[in-house]
Amino acid sequence: MTIRPFEDHDYPGIVSVGNAIYSDYPWSVDETRHEDARFDGVRFVQRRFVAALPDGRVVAHSGFHHVPNMYHPQKFWVDVLVHPEFQRRGFGSRLYDHLMAGLAPSRPVMLWSNVRETFADSLRFAKRRGFAEIRRAWESRLDVASFNPAPFQARAEAAMNRMAVVTVAEERERDPRCREKLYDMHVEVLADVPQPDAYTPQTIDQFQQRLLDNPAYVPGGHFLAKDDNRYIAESFVFRSEERPDVLYQGLTATRREYRGRGIALALKLRVVAFAKQRGYREIRTWNDTLNAPMLHINETMGFVRQPAWVMLAKAP
Ligand SMILES: CC(C)(COP(=O)(O)OP(=O)(O)OC[C@H]1O[C@@H](n2cnc3c(N)ncnc32)[C@H](O)[C@@H]1OP(=O)(O)O)[C@@H](O)C(=O)NCCC(=O)NCCS
Repeated sequence: MTIRPFEDHDYPGIVSVGNAIYSDYPWSVDETRHEDARFDGVRFVQRRFVAALPDGRVVAHSGFHHVPNMYHPQKFWVDVLVHPEFQRRGFGSRLYDHLMAGLAPSRPVMLWSNVRETFADSLRFAKRRGFAEIRRAWESRLDVASFNPAPFQARAEAAMNRMAVVTVAEERERDPRCREKLYDMHVEVLADVPQPDAYTPQTIDQFQQRLLDNPAYVPGGHFLAKDDNRYIAESFVFRSEERPDVLYQGLTATRREYRGRGIALALKLRVVAFAKQRGYREIRTWNDTLNAPMLHINETMGFVRQPAWVMLAKAP
């Protein structure tokens, strides 16, 4: 097995390793290319390595990158992924050591990663190398067809009294300032999503790249609450090429001064109605275990909890 820097022709190899491990969250080669193309490689660092057999087959990969919403020049997200058929042969250890050597010139002060709690071997691998659990995120899923909005309708209608619900698809046709207004709300509310380090807001160009230019983004499924002409809450979803019957929940958020009135619930009901109309089977979401209001809304609506994702950290 040889370790070398990732090259463009390695996309199918790394995607097949990732999909063999996380078979419930398959990615296509195109989606992975797009994700990389939208990473701001000018401001942030991203590097990847692959492990290949003598016949050229990629069986593992690793990487590190800055985390745009928790940017610090010496803090990085790290990953090591070994195809299940090639685990327990020392590939992971070698890739990890290679990764650390690649990171050393940046003098890292913090490394983060995450693993689903059902992956006992991966957790042990990380803990043996000095990573410790810092928090968890619950994954939960809603069965769209069986969802009954009736019990929530009155609360949602009361919350939206005097306010309009619109989509980004509609708004960008009629309001030339839609993008700036959306960005203004988005960077403000993101500051309140629980995360383990200081929040660093994205620029409007990064917002455009990461969200609006994302081919998985669905402008007709991005719901906004509008008070007069100001956006005050949002909820949106992403579609998946490899799982066309599933939607992934993006951010749901309400500006601080409007919270606790049922506005987030009302927007999530619109998202589910959108999913139902278009025949999606399931909505999946991830919530930090410290995000009590969001977990409360999802539980009330009937999202069913799945295994948690454990976030790990190491200060080298
Ligand atoms: C989570 C968030 C979107 C909720 O928005 P909102 O418009 O206030 O939500 P709603 O009013 O529809 O519902 C909030 C519910 O949480 C409940 N709640 C609030 N604080 C709570 C707490 N500490 N523990 C338990 N429940 C809580 C409220 O009582 C309300 O439930 P109820 O309608 O049954 O009384 C908002 O807090 C927010 O924008 N947070 C920052 C962004 C974020 O973290 N988004 C989620 C990322 S995964």
